[in-house]
Amino acid sequence: MTIKDITKSPLIPKKINVKGWVKTFRANRFISLNDGSTSKNIQCVVDFEETDSLLLSKINCGASLEIEGLLVKSQGKGQSVEIKVKNIKILGECDPNSYPIQPKKHSLEFLRENAHLRIRTNTFSSIMRIRSSISFAIHKYFKEKGFFYVNTPIITGSDAEGAGEMFKVTTLDINQAKLNNNNKIDYSEDFFGKETNLTVSGQLEAESMAMGLGKVYTFGPTFRAENSNTSRHLAEFWMVEPEMAFCDINDNMELAEEFIKSVIKDVVNECKDDLDFLNQRLLDEEKTKPMTERSELNLLDKLDFVINNDFKKITYSEAFDILRNSKPNKKKKFKFPIQEWGVDLQSEHERFLVEKHFKKPVIIYDYPAKIKAFYMRMNEDGKTVKAMDILFPGIGEIVGGSQREERLDVLKARIKELNVDEKELWWYLDLRKYGTVKHSGFGLGLERLILFVTGMTNIRDVIPFPRTPNNAEF
Ligand code: 4AD
Ligand code: MG
Repeated sequence: MTIKDITKSPLIPKKINVKGWVKTFRANRFISLNDGSTSKNIQCVVDFEETDSLLLSKINCGASLEIEGLLVKSQGKGQSVEIKVKNIKILGECDPNSYPIQPKKHSLEFLRENAHLRIRTNTFSSIMRIRSSISFAIHKYFKEKGFFYVNTPIITGSDAEGAGEMFKVTTLDINQAKLNNNNKIDYSEDFFGKETNLTVSGQLEAESMAMGLGKVYTFGPTFRAENSNTSRHLAEFWMVEPEMAFCDINDNMELAEEFIKSVIKDVVNECKDDLDFLNQRLLDEEKTKPMTERSELNLLDKLDFVINNDFKKITYSEAFDILRNSKPNKKKKFKFPIQEWGVDLQSEHERFLVEKHFKKPVIIYDYPAKIKAFYMRMNEDGKTVKAMDILFPGIGEIVGGSQREERLDVLKARIKELNVDEKELWWYLDLRKYGTVKHSGFGLGLERLILFVTGMTNIRDVIPFPRTPNNAEF
């Protein structure tokens, strides 16, 4: 039986057997045991006639145990049931002098260096259970909406975002690679007979699938060699990418909003204990801040707020005007001042709009073509594209999407204009030659959504083993 099952159905007294790891051991009598099934520990009370001191000396924080005993109503406070221990087997000892995860508060930095053991802490086990629950809620949403789950390649020859932030995939010995006439590495000798890289997005292939299946989504690992060492960027992250035939940008924005709300709602219902724990963790953290820096809403209120309120929809031009006339812009408080229409919005601008101005999630659409990818549908004004970004408080961009350019001639012109390698995209252009239709989709960064739901502030803490510049340990 798992501790979750035990604490859910307390038919007592009852003989049971549990296995788990020791959280704490007090007064040579009270073992707090956790098996990962829930954030709750079970208290096991050692009440031997003759106490075996060698055995007791091995019950240290982190040791793994098998306990047989009787589940009874608890005598003490803090739990409704406990186990009266009949027998203890030490499965794996744990040296208390070298075990890094002591029963005390550790810094998140320290735990990152011990990412292989941090899952034994309450904070990380709660985050990872929530991560699992979010992933299932995502699949559930799309299944109920009639989408098909498709798997797009991880190794690819194209650069879907045209940003050149790719990790190369090769079996060539780069120290001895043959050069071609242009003094460049000759990839015709490589495994695939051409240059390949890890995918930055499954979108282009998802578009191909949508042109036969109608509504599809991908959900997989994504790789970007952006050298941005921020608390919002990973070199390896998970992205959900739905793609819908016959849908325009408005349908796309509506679906994205409904999707996010539905996933958060499911998780709030399913992960009550874990969210309560993380909520308390944040409240404790808030207490150490000055009054003026404390947030008005707690974590659970924030989640409820997002579920129950409409996102604010504005065009890039409207956002630009608000920002240009804003106090921080006039007082030169922005690191990147807002002067000319067409500039890319930086995270300081996004956060101003979401956290200060609208105080709710914001969808910005109709962005300047200049700052967006080649595949986005050009608007009639010839200046903006049917792109949309969803911005979240504390996170910034959580979703990026667009209606796709379905007209062959316009798409070709854009590819040329943005200096994208057309050769690799011959099959993508075919989709516009053979039965092209209006279609749209978006990408949601899984880890950014987990940041929001858990209230964590560093993306390295919501994926088991983060990959970031200068860090690929574990
Ligand atoms: O805005 P992006 O670059 O959009 C695309 O890749 C499109 N092809 C999606 C589509 O239309 N199918 O990325 C989408 C989302 C971002 O909004 C962000 O949440 C997340 O992916 N993301 C990252 N998350 C963590 N680390 C990074 N380095 C990320 N880059 C993007
Ligand atoms: Mg984006």
